[in-house]
Amino acid sequence: MHPIDSKRTPLTYDTIEPGAGLAAAMKKSRADIIAEVSASNLRGRGGAGFPTGTKWNLAAAARVKDGEFKYVVCNADEGEPGTFKDRVLLLDHADLVFEGMTIAARAIGAKKGILYLRGEYVYMRPHLEVVLARRRETGRLGEGILRVAGFDFDIEIRMGAGAYVCGEETALIESLEGHRGEPRNRPPFPVDTGFLGQPTVVNNVETLACVSAILAKGAAWFKAIGSERSAGFKLFSISGDCARPGVYEFPLGITVRELLDRVGAPDAKAVQVGGASGVCLTASQFERRIAFEDVATGGSIIVLGPGRDMLHVARNFMEFFVEESCGQCTPCRVGNAKLLEGIEKLERGECSTAYLRELLSLCETMQLASKCGLGQSSPNAFVSIMTHFQDEILGRTPVAMGGVR
Ligand SMILES: Cc1cc2nc3c(=O)[nH]c(=O)nc-3n(C[C@H](O)[C@H](O)[C@H](O)COP(=O)(O)O)c2cc1C
Ligand code: SF4
Repeated sequence: MHPIDSKRTPLTYDTIEPGAGLAAAMKKSRADIIAEVSASNLRGRGGAGFPTGTKWNLAAAARVKDGEFKYVVCNADEGEPGTFKDRVLLLDHADLVFEGMTIAARAIGAKKGILYLRGEYVYMRPHLEVVLARRRETGRLGEGILRVAGFDFDIEIRMGAGAYVCGEETALIESLEGHRGEPRNRPPFPVDTGFLGQPTVVNNVETLACVSAILAKGAAWFKAIGSERSAGFKLFSISGDCARPGVYEFPLGITVRELLDRVGAPDAKAVQVGGASGVCLTASQFERRIAFEDVATGGSIIVLGPGRDMLHVARNFMEFFVEESCGQCTPCRVGNAKLLEGIEKLERGECSTAYLRELLSLCETMQLASKCGLGQSSPNAFVSIMTHFQDEILGRTPVAMGGVR
């Protein structure tokens, strides 16, 4: 384990031998590597849950422009509030992450990899550079990887500069190209037109570590874990009002209640699943499952204890989005500011029922019309808090608002 220790439970990754995944991949054709990843049912661990095999297939089929080459980008921006699980993988299992990038490169025919590292993680960079140097010295990066002629691939680390939106894959690519970190219109998607206009696979840190484990142990092993539609295990960053916060690994499909028991939060009032852009679940929903078919998440779980003021929680998230909206499109730029204004009115007891209804209708517009995932998901917490905690919010407000929805 790296000297900068992290508070976490034992992980399956601790049992995966570095090198085993790449060795297994080298015995397969490119198509068979992708077939193995597809057969595992692995879905992206960065939040959106896109099937990894499908993404790689598209990138493998895409044509390189003007004699350039394809890219693999590891998204290590980890900017979602309450998320700190990629940090553990980068500190303790960087080899598995770089190996996943190398396997992706082999599968799609990429020559260059970029690790886009969250600005605040700059302290990890020396450690990561040491791991990269060791991989070059041992023939696992560079020209002719593992003595296979023509398999040339190397990885460079590039630093983010602290913008949450730069975790969105097209904004990330803009930032890598030296532009303002603003999301692009999609299509075209990065698998076709990504970094420098070339086919680019962007995957989350955990997705890439998963790939190493899947190639090492087989798709069937991975698929046997988790729920029917959400294969495998998942890392969770658990914080807030619980006895044992930290990074945990659970199979997908675990109920919120089981998770709360494990972290010591028997009296939780609510749980914010998926960070600021996720949803706020109340105690009556704790039997719901953390899985793509139920409550999906990139891994952030914030436990809210009995003493939490839910309007204050909503304000906290909205302040974040007002600060982090890139301002490119109106629903997000103006919508987040309007929602914050509404919360301030609620705090002062000046928000009428009609105005609150207008705000909830604005949320729908933002979810439908915003250009990227930031504006599409920023109203989620507001909507779920206003829906589930009406009584508390109405109770503190002198103006009678009636039913919110
Ligand atoms: C505002 C915003 C921030 C995001 N931040 C991250 C992030 O920090 N890390 C990440 O892996 N994905 C993040 N994503 C998702 C990426 O756009 C992309 O879906 C992901 O990197 C793809 O990798 P995966 O398929 O392996 O999950 C973010 C998306 C949005 C809309
Ligand atoms: S939704 Fe928000 S962050 Fe995304 S492009 Fe529009 S203004 Fe920028």
